[in-house]
Amino acid sequence: MTQTDLAFLNGQYLPKSEARISPMDRGFLFGDGIYEVIPCHHRKPIGLKRHIDRLQTNLRAIGFAPYASDEHWATIITTLAEQSRSEHCGVYLHVSRGVAAKRHHTFSKDLTPTEFAYSFEIPAPPSSSNKPHAGLKLKSQEDLRWFHCDVKVTALLGNVLHYQQAVDSGFDEALLYRPGGRVTEASASNVFCVKDGIVYTPPLSNTLLPGITRGLIIDVLQDHSQIEVKQQDLTVEDFLAADEVWLSSSTREIAPVSQIDDHLIKGGTSGPMWERVIDLFQEHKYEYA
Ligand code: PDD
Repeated sequence: MTQTDLAFLNGQYLPKSEARISPMDRGFLFGDGIYEVIPCHHRKPIGLKRHIDRLQTNLRAIGFAPYASDEHWATIITTLAEQSRSEHCGVYLHVSRGVAAKRHHTFSKDLTPTEFAYSFEIPAPPSSSNKPHAGLKLKSQEDLRWFHCDVKVTALLGNVLHYQQAVDSGFDEALLYRPGGRVTEASASNVFCVKDGIVYTPPLSNTLLPGITRGLIIDVLQDHSQIEVKQQDLTVEDFLAADEVWLSSSTREIAPVSQIDDHLIKGGTSGPMWERVIDLFQEHKYEYA
């Protein structure tokens, strides 16, 4: 077993290859659960408290009574990050409703949740001196997911199909919009655009995930720069006319976009605002742990 194969399952640390759950687990049968992905650089989690707060919020959102302390989750995350062979890892942490004797849509409140976590390697953080080789290409698609996209549920088939459709068409990710053209997010990231020196991102609502990276970017810019950030509704046309477009997520941090459909974005692989913001982000991201 390499150390990166370490996992946590229901109170035990064990090799990931030995982790087993029942096929009657509601996570398997219904996608009935929630999850987090926590980025850890040099074995230190980024935004740990925010990830744990979101996890607890999501547990409540799907009907769990409070049952585990913040310390319980923090111990799992920090243990897996410290044991990881990789300097840069994500910790995947998943809580499902648990195993029920009968398959039925409704659930008993007495089930014991299934807790599963493991770490996996992620790229070293980008910076103005460690730029990506290429910008991402996005395919715009009408967002066909449900209306609880603010809850980080494991039932990701909507996201999976959007992402796959983009990749099958030769793109890297999907840029999702609701009827009328209002952009929500990408299938596994939040979205930003830059126009005339101002950074824009769609406001939080039930149609997008309140990404931890999104929140950190906004807070770092507000606390440590004069750069203005506006959270407002944006259309696909706004993104096409932008000077720069970025995706944000725990595993990508801030990734420049060079193309949407057949339209090339001005900033391309790394625009001047991306270079400023990624360096500010690297300088200050640990302050929000
Ligand atoms: N995805 N929106 C969606 C739909 C996402 O799946 C993610 C993250 C984000 C960004 O959130 P955060 O900054 O908290 O990572 C936005 C993770 C990484 C995943 O599913 O693997």
